[in-house]
Amino acid sequence: MRILLFSGKGGVGKTSTAAATGLKLASLGYRTLVMSVDPAHSLSDAFDLEAGLFSSRTADPVPIVANLEIHEVNIQKEIKRHWNEISTYIIGLLRTSGLADVEAEELAIFPGMEELSAMMYVNQFRREGRYDVIVLDCAPTAESLRFISMPTTLEWYIKHIFPTERKLLKLMRPLANRVSPVELPQDSYFANIYDLYKKIEGIDTLLADPVKTSARLVTNAEKMVLKETQRAFVYFSLHGLTVDEIIVNRLLPEEAGQGFFAEARRNQQEVLAEVERYFAPVPARRVPLFETEVLGIERLRRLADVLYGAGEDPAAVTRTEPAYEFGKKDDHYEVRLRLPFAAKSEVGLYKKGDELVVEIGNFRRHVGLPTSMAALAPVRARLEDRLLIVEMKEAA
Ligand SMILES: Nc1ncnc2c1ncn2[C@@H]1O[C@H](COP(=O)(O)OP(=O)(O)OP(=O)(O)O)[C@@H](O)[C@H]1O
Ligand SMILES: [Mg+2]
Repeated sequence: MRILLFSGKGGVGKTSTAAATGLKLASLGYRTLVMSVDPAHSLSDAFDLEAGLFSSRTADPVPIVANLEIHEVNIQKEIKRHWNEISTYIIGLLRTSGLADVEAEELAIFPGMEELSAMMYVNQFRREGRYDVIVLDCAPTAESLRFISMPTTLEWYIKHIFPTERKLLKLMRPLANRVSPVELPQDSYFANIYDLYKKIEGIDTLLADPVKTSARLVTNAEKMVLKETQRAFVYFSLHGLTVDEIIVNRLLPEEAGQGFFAEARRNQQEVLAEVERYFAPVPARRVPLFETEVLGIERLRRLADVLYGAGEDPAAVTRTEPAYEFGKKDDHYEVRLRLPFAAKSEVGLYKKGDELVVEIGNFRRHVGLPTSMAALAPVRARLEDRLLIVEMKEAA
């Protein structure tokens, strides 16, 4: 099963491109599911389904055309299905602080619940072998980053905090419930957490396997959007996900380059060139701005035709390695950069803001650094096969 993850800044066209990709895959004969992980669902709107504003019809996969289903994770339903013990406890806790029931219920939806629920489904569908491809329409970047880091966080919690906390509470409960103003969680609460963990177990390996999972970053050709796309690229790499494509959406077509929009188009073309330089060797697809919103199956198909060539397969595996990786070794950090060639010439390394710039001959690569490494300076580099390993240390 393949997983294609569509992420990017708010409003850039994630849902539209994910939906169009789903249609293309279905037409190629793949059993496809497009799943929305964004609490502000708009997948059914993109398909122009006649659904009420808060309809929960898509809380389970709904067939759209042959081979294509869509699914919008509905958090209220998921709470009943999967989070009962946890949310009952939290709601109880919030009530003791004087909150009304409805408010307490709203607040008991904590960050990450949607993402975790979606992951459980992905894992379940994988086990059942129900689909060939799952296209994930993610929430804007920050939330999708939480999505990809969630399994690691939960695993850490289960391994380190969970056992002690549980033991401690067992000891404390008889006493604490008499003196403490808040009820301590019952064993069922922990059983529920463990059960959830079991349901997402293995998903981190799935996400980090480039043959199974590819991330596609949707962007617009604007400086500010590009900055966020670059950050997303860094963090996806940091979490071991392979970004195999950048999709530059809403490009002003040539005929729009006159009069009022002339300057805007010039600007877009500049940013587009920057996108291609920055992300190379990851390719950038170009999608023009359409005359109208991309609503309904017909228009989504038009978008798919622009995105993919006639014989092209969006599920094809084109990159089997992330462009770069970060790691920590003994007393230093490392940036491991995959080079398209095995050159033995002079390597130039320098910092530019929070980016590491690597130059070999006339090859130049900008690597955005994660926060934990942004203050470090490159010390030396060595070449192993086609891997350039740059040591990073605190500047003396
Ligand atoms: N190439 C395009 N030409 C014209 N309109 C477009 C294009 N791409 C997307 N749109 C329209 O822009 C709006 C936002 O697109 P979409 O919902 O796909 O973005 P999104 O990244 O999913 O947004 P959000 O962050 O809110 O989930 C929609 O109305 C969509 O129809
Ligand atoms: Mg969207």
